[in-house]
Amino acid sequence: MRILPEFTKYGFPTVRLRRLRKNRIVRDLIAEVKVFPSSLVMPLFVKEGLMEREPIDGMPGQERLSINALIREVGELLDLEVRAILLFGVPSMKDEFGSSAYDRDGIVQKAVREVKKNFGEEITVMTDVCLCQYTSHGHCGIILEKGNRKIIDNDSTIEVLARIALSHAEAGADVVAPSDMMDGRVGAIRKALDEAGYTDTAIMSYSVKYASSLYGPFRNAAYSKPSFGDRRSYQMDPRNMREALREVELDILEGADIVMVKPASWYLDIVSLIKNHFNVPVAAYSVSGEYTMIKIMAEKGLIDEKQAVWEQLHSVRRAGADIIITYYAKQYAEWIRDGELP
Ligand code: PBG
Ligand code: ZN
Repeated sequence: MRILPEFTKYGFPTVRLRRLRKNRIVRDLIAEVKVFPSSLVMPLFVKEGLMEREPIDGMPGQERLSINALIREVGELLDLEVRAILLFGVPSMKDEFGSSAYDRDGIVQKAVREVKKNFGEEITVMTDVCLCQYTSHGHCGIILEKGNRKIIDNDSTIEVLARIALSHAEAGADVVAPSDMMDGRVGAIRKALDEAGYTDTAIMSYSVKYASSLYGPFRNAAYSKPSFGDRRSYQMDPRNMREALREVELDILEGADIVMVKPASWYLDIVSLIKNHFNVPVAAYSVSGEYTMIKIMAEKGLIDEKQAVWEQLHSVRRAGADIIITYYAKQYAEWIRDGELP
């Protein structure tokens, strides 16, 4: 600490931090973090058998898309310089084993092929790899009856997940993103991809995924609410922090290229911790509940939506996220284009 020689007549040092806050230009010059559309990923729901698009109850402004609507949406995102999407499939067929998840002609596989046919390398297509939208019971894995208990079986699930990831890679996905939280799935997926020659397909692991209340609107959007029990036997306990380091360490060893923390806003300490401990790119997922909280408050006139989103995205960046996955990606990019942000 430097000794400050001068004092004002009021007795405080002559240093005045307000000098660099006086207008937008100065504030922009000294801003420590910035968020451009190029670091955002837009999550999109693509629904089998849908004509065009339908609004999602509980996520105002978000829609489920047909493949045609998806193609138009991607075109609009590219015009706004948002160059990455994370695809979620909403299938018309579910069964106990989630077999529509690895169907070569499944909704995600078809959607990826179409997007790649239309836009090629212009867009980075990430696909969510999980079972919950595809299983009749809504869990992220295969169910095994143990006595009178039903458990989510880890090792048979990771075989299915590897199969799903491979089907996405075959369709042309650039990045596969397992969101199930089974142990060892990153290694199983990496092995399956490499054996089939997909050594360039990257893995973004939902490494640190907490069992969060904030997924509520998503489960409504994707029809993926578990029909019994909850996800606490596989997703992380919100009280744990050191365990996040173990999850990430294992995923890196198993071959994850990008690690993700999810949710984002209530877990910024975890984002920061992971960023400071490891040398891999860190993604943070600002989930459906974070989106809807701002939307509903804004609709009620209780919050300035643009300011809130701007503040939230910069907070996530400040905590250390390289990549931010947010349902606001498109709107934020529009606000930047139109010069409407603070
Ligand atoms: C499921 C999955 C979830 C999300 C992405 N993939 C939620 C869940 O565990 O049910 C959450 C996304 C969001 O809330 O925006 N594997
Ligand atoms: Zn799942």
